[in-house]
Amino acid sequence: MLTIALPKGRLMDKVLELLAEAQIIDSKELCEQSRKLIIEDPKANFRYILAKPIDVPTYVEHGVADLGVVGKDILIESERLVYELMDLGIGKCRMIVAVSDQSNLNEVKELGFSAKVATKYPNITTSFFRSHGIQSEIIELNGSIELAPLVGLADAIVDITETGTTIRENGLRIIGEVFPISARLIANHVSYKLHYKKLQDIQEKLEGVVQC
Ligand code: PRP
Repeated sequence: MLTIALPKGRLMDKVLELLAEAQIIDSKELCEQSRKLIIEDPKANFRYILAKPIDVPTYVEHGVADLGVVGKDILIESERLVYELMDLGIGKCRMIVAVSDQSNLNEVKELGFSAKVATKYPNITTSFFRSHGIQSEIIELNGSIELAPLVGLADAIVDITETGTTIRENGLRIIGEVFPISARLIANHVSYKLHYKKLQDIQEKLEGVVQC
């Protein structure tokens, strides 16, 4: 039985739709039935584990899951050793740098050496600012990142934006792009070799329905 780690939260619905469309699961209701964290599909010989997105690469790296679905943002931030098999073309958004509308900053390079940057993504933020020659002070938060510049906790934020609503409604302004994001199919290194045919079959089914 193959184990696939799926991300709970906003990406879940889209992932289930994609799996159903690719006929990997019968219907998207499979994982919506309860608060169970392990769901078996004996007919297809798959088992699904439902994890917090940030933990999906950890389950896959350790081989507890053979495959996983996770956003590119989480994949980079987690720095886990897994294979990235394909772009699933869902969960599209952007990682951006934003400041308060009241700020006089217009570009990332204008952030000074003592710039305070709030984020849920300390690794990505550190390497992004380093690549711009800026040594920022990272303030790590766990959510509602947009609040930080509004209350004077940070000069800027690095966060994801999808519709732009949160940025707009909180009087923030984008001054830089870090990278575009979408969901990725990832695999454990050993599983990829051991179950190559099965994993290839899943990948081919997904390639048949993915629209990038
Ligand atoms: C994410 C992100 C932004 C928001 C952007 O937060 O951190 O706050 O979504 O979406 P939008 O551009 O469509 O408005 P999430 O909802 O995951 O919750 P969080 O604030 O707890 O991180």
